Amino acid sequence: MKVTVVGAGAVGASCAEYIAIKNFASEVTLIDIKEGFAEGKAMDLMQTASLNGFDTQITGVTNDYSKTAGSDVAVITSGIPRKPGMTREELIGINAGIVKSVVASLVEHSPNVIVIVVSNPMDTMAYLAHKSSGLPKNRIIGMGGALDSARFKFRLAEALGCPQSDVDGMVIAAHSDTGMIPLTRLATRNSVPVSEFLSEEKLAEVAEATKVGGATLTKLLGTSAWYAPGAAVSAMVQAIACDTKKMFPCSVLLEGEYGLSDISFGVPCIIGKNGIEKIVEIELTAAEKEQFNANAEAVKAVNNLL
Ligand code: LAC
Repeated sequence: MKVTVVGAGAVGASCAEYIAIKNFASEVTLIDIKEGFAEGKAMDLMQTASLNGFDTQITGVTNDYSKTAGSDVAVITSGIPRKPGMTREELIGINAGIVKSVVASLVEHSPNVIVIVVSNPMDTMAYLAHKSSGLPKNRIIGMGGALDSARFKFRLAEALGCPQSDVDGMVIAAHSDTGMIPLTRLATRNSVPVSEFLSEEKLAEVAEATKVGGATLTKLLGTSAWYAPGAAVSAMVQAIACDTKKMFPCSVLLEGEYGLSDISFGVPCIIGKNGIEKIVEIELTAAEKEQFNANAEAVKAVNNLL
């Protein structure tokens, strides 16, 4: 398995690191436009191989997409990250141009590649990647839900005072502060609904803290987060590499599923060697459905700015 990570910034380097540490990929190519930057990150990471016990070969390249040839999976993290006070949507102008040209270069050298889009505003960037490349929907996956669900589990475990491994939960809809829907109704602690332990008010607080999870970190760090985004991507790449059929909420092109079409939007998906193997349609309550549709309209409004 060869994985290309586009963008050697904090998120890209973190993706490469987690992928290597899990030791399921033979090669990771890290590519960046800044001269020598990806080479430096790759070398630094390779000097951890004997310490961390991995055999993955990490190579850094400056803007030479011929070195990405034969990639099975490519992760696009390039573009500008948000600064404190900025929404993900405000990045659209610059990042759209970058994502479009990156997808074209990737596909030129790896016609069978499965693309994972991380750049923001992610749902719109995943949609753009589809529109500009014409790749089948199973091969363009927007990463947002896996990260937002991890942040949801962190907040749930914090509220419950229990380990995160005891908690399950999922966040669907858009990867934006106002557009995501943490499904508190379906979240569990060791199979028991969390509503058995937490009041409605507390659950609403957990949902709110989850929704602004990225913004909270941007405020603390001065730029957007990287460890959890990197780990979320690496978990998805592993599901593809090992054909696990694990379920993650992903931004995927909808063609009638959930009553929506012509949009990339966060819904539960089965991930395996073909990328998106299946979209899982779960029953939403009337209130959830109403919110889901309103949030989809908001994403479509951003898509219209492309
Ligand atoms: C975040 C970025 C990756 O939520 O969108 O941290």
